[in-house]
Amino acid sequence: MRIKMATTLNRSCNQYLIHLAQDNLDFRLPEIKALLALRGKPFHPRTNFTEKSPFWCLDGLCEEDVRGIMARSVCAKSAFELWGHGQTHSELKTSLLNYPLENMLPFMHKDSTYKINVYTFNKTLEFADRIKRIDALDYLPFEGAVSLKSPEHIFCLLEDYGTDPNNIPEHPNYIYFGRWIADGQRELIRSHSVKNRHFIGNTSMDAGLSFIMANHAKVKENDLVFDPFVGTGSLLVACSQFGAYVCGTDIDFNTIHGKGRSSRKSQKWRGPDENIRANLRQYGTEKMYVDVMVSDASKPVWREAALFDAIITDPPYGIRESTRRTGSHKDISKPHDGIYVDSHVPVSQAYHLSDIFTDLLHSSALHLVMGGRLVYWLPVYRPEYCEEMVPLHPCLRVISNCEQTLSSHTARRLITMEKIKEPEELDSLAHMEDLHLSPYQGHNAFREKYFSGLNKRCGKEEDRPHVNGQ
Ligand SMILES: C[S@@+](CC[C@H](N)C(=O)[O-])C[C@H]1O[C@@H](n2cnc3c(N)ncnc32)[C@H](O)[C@@H]1O
Repeated sequence: MRIKMATTLNRSCNQYLIHLAQDNLDFRLPEIKALLALRGKPFHPRTNFTEKSPFWCLDGLCEEDVRGIMARSVCAKSAFELWGHGQTHSELKTSLLNYPLENMLPFMHKDSTYKINVYTFNKTLEFADRIKRIDALDYLPFEGAVSLKSPEHIFCLLEDYGTDPNNIPEHPNYIYFGRWIADGQRELIRSHSVKNRHFIGNTSMDAGLSFIMANHAKVKENDLVFDPFVGTGSLLVACSQFGAYVCGTDIDFNTIHGKGRSSRKSQKWRGPDENIRANLRQYGTEKMYVDVMVSDASKPVWREAALFDAIITDPPYGIRESTRRTGSHKDISKPHDGIYVDSHVPVSQAYHLSDIFTDLLHSSALHLVMGGRLVYWLPVYRPEYCEEMVPLHPCLRVISNCEQTLSSHTARRLITMEKIKEPEELDSLAHMEDLHLSPYQGHNAFREKYFSGLNKRCGKEEDRPHVNGQ
């Protein structure tokens, strides 16, 4: 038993092959890098690394690292301990025969069972051709018995025919052979699909993207994660699945309390218990639910302290939901004691896009722990987009910026930032308010202009639903 543990867990200095899904291409590298960073490991690809390829070879890892990554990744399909590779089958053979025999033998001895799979990317092979490929590996010293149903060890021959479906070469561009280690978490995309979610809204975040966001945020067990625009809590569902405690705020009373009109065609009103807590219960993570509350993200509600390990959110763009905040165009004077009478109903006004992001970055700088991550979506108008328009903050470093194209002209970008320093004394909101200064000018003149254009494109003011009051 001890020998088996040693051979399966401590096999370091090997090369590992990761097979990635060919969707959400932009999100894959930041996901794998974040998952490696969670384990304190750097990203060491092989020299001819191609980001858009479905196959990546990584160095400097041990099998435990690879299992750790695969236990979280929704971008990766499977991982293998790489035994050999080459541009042709004869190069593969040379490479395999050079692989240290002592690394192979623990998985090939006569008491073991095994099977070999053949996987082809961008080409379908006939069954007979697959068998030929397996037979051609007869130079490998397998001594165990083949078991197709429950093998102890699974091996895979992977052939890469490139990424162009209109130009499939006759012979593969590259071939790999390795021992299967683990599959990724693609199954979460199906099991957590919003189609079967208890409580949903018009803007519920897709399950796959929610898990990718949680991974970019490096969410881990016992973290406290906050979503300031929580909606139906899709991001909380994903974070709780990875063992984090979750909380959120939303300006919409009905959303927070699971009341009002249903987003399902077949149903007029939301039923009893259609709320975020019930969503977590559906996936067995209710114990990670802290709470959600009705609150306006433009107003500071938290004590000034580093409270959250991660802030992950999908702010309103005003396309399918309102970008409102409490307050009025008519200046409502605050009572002298700062407390509103019980009967006070906040009215709402437009929440300008540039203010949403300035407020989000500022409050993240205040409330994230050092090293904590902010992950959020930024809407962009593609013809005008350039990197300079991404809001910056001196306490937050941009880690990644990935595009999800929505149409020829529109996209949203998933921005990941990491807190690198505490806001200076003068930066604190209290001081700024005393001095009548804006908290942090996260937008230069260029960004201001860009956001005001984007705000106009997001629909007319009067089209947007009002949340509170007038
Ligand atoms: C894109 S949706 C978030 C969807 C959410 N990720 C989900 O999966 O359901 C944006 C949310 O922001 C809320 N919102 C709009 N203005 C707000 C504000 N000023 N403060 C807090 N929440 C606000 C809207 O009510 C909406 O639920």
